[in-house]
Amino acid sequence: MNFPTTRMRRLRYNKILRNMIEDTHIRSSDLIYPIFVTEGTDVKEPIESMPGQFRYSIDHTILLCEELLSNNIKSIILFGIVKEKDDTGKISCSSKSIVPKTITYLKNKFKNELYIIADVCNCEYTKHGHCGTVIGNDVDNDSTLLTLAEQSLILAKSGADALAPSDMMDGRVGSIREILDKNKFEKIPIFPYSVKYSSAFYGPFRDAANSSPSFGSRKTYQMNFKNSDEAINEVRLDLNEGADIIIIKPAMSYLDIIYKIKERFNIPIIAYNVSGEYSMVKSASENNFISEMEIILEILHSIKRAGANAIISYHALEVAKFLKKNNV
Ligand code: PBG
Repeated sequence: MNFPTTRMRRLRYNKILRNMIEDTHIRSSDLIYPIFVTEGTDVKEPIESMPGQFRYSIDHTILLCEELLSNNIKSIILFGIVKEKDDTGKISCSSKSIVPKTITYLKNKFKNELYIIADVCNCEYTKHGHCGTVIGNDVDNDSTLLTLAEQSLILAKSGADALAPSDMMDGRVGSIREILDKNKFEKIPIFPYSVKYSSAFYGPFRDAANSSPSFGSRKTYQMNFKNSDEAINEVRLDLNEGADIIIIKPAMSYLDIIYKIKERFNIPIIAYNVSGEYSMVKSASENNFISEMEIILEILHSIKRAGANAIISYHALEVAKFLKKNNV
């Protein structure tokens, strides 16, 4: 049927009807809030490159989680900020390290009300800022698998609900699955960042976590953004090693990849709306160049429309507050 019998605008005149037939939705329960936890007490330190984001000590993390829960955000992903670092990241493989310690406190306080995902990586804990053990001039894949597995076990023991390895070493999902299963953590899922591009969009995060590599780059382990088919191989390999949900990041410039993976594999996808995407929105709206909440909602809906089931976003709390206020 063609015009004038068909008029697409007929379904756009009435707001109630427009809402009724929407096919993409954002709920607070789809959103995961990233939190940078740091040592000390009474610390809530602003992150300069990410307006509205802070490094929190455990006491402030608890307050923040109360605020998240009262706004219907029920899941978080944790990153550790530490002063003392070593060559391999092994320093994080201890229950006294900041992330396991924080998880113990949070689980004790919130039990199963709060779903805690722990990012697994070495870059926040190595002096050189790379994601693993450096041998020669590069990150050695197989020795890094050992620290990643050990860090994962500690995180599981501390009460993490899920583990999200973000290092991009080959074989890490298998190594982590193996150590978890050997230690009776077969119920703990793994959400690898199967598709993680080497991206300038991580800039503000590296500033926040003080984790920029001191030499070279992450291009020998993170993916080349000029490639697309490679993403399918990464996901297939991780699924074969036991991945339960896969994470894709960045999100905004990678909607084609989210769509492709969704079409190809019948699995849940989490997209990571990363630090650079957040900071671009913040600085443009601080200058009144854009209408902030409208832009945020448009971005988050586009990520879901592409096929993401859930989104990790620094905007999560402000969006949840907006949804609550507007009874969405
Ligand atoms: C650690 C890690 C990074 C991000 C998440 N986990 C940084 C990196 O790979 O350099 C980036 C997240 C963001 O930019 O918000 N490997």
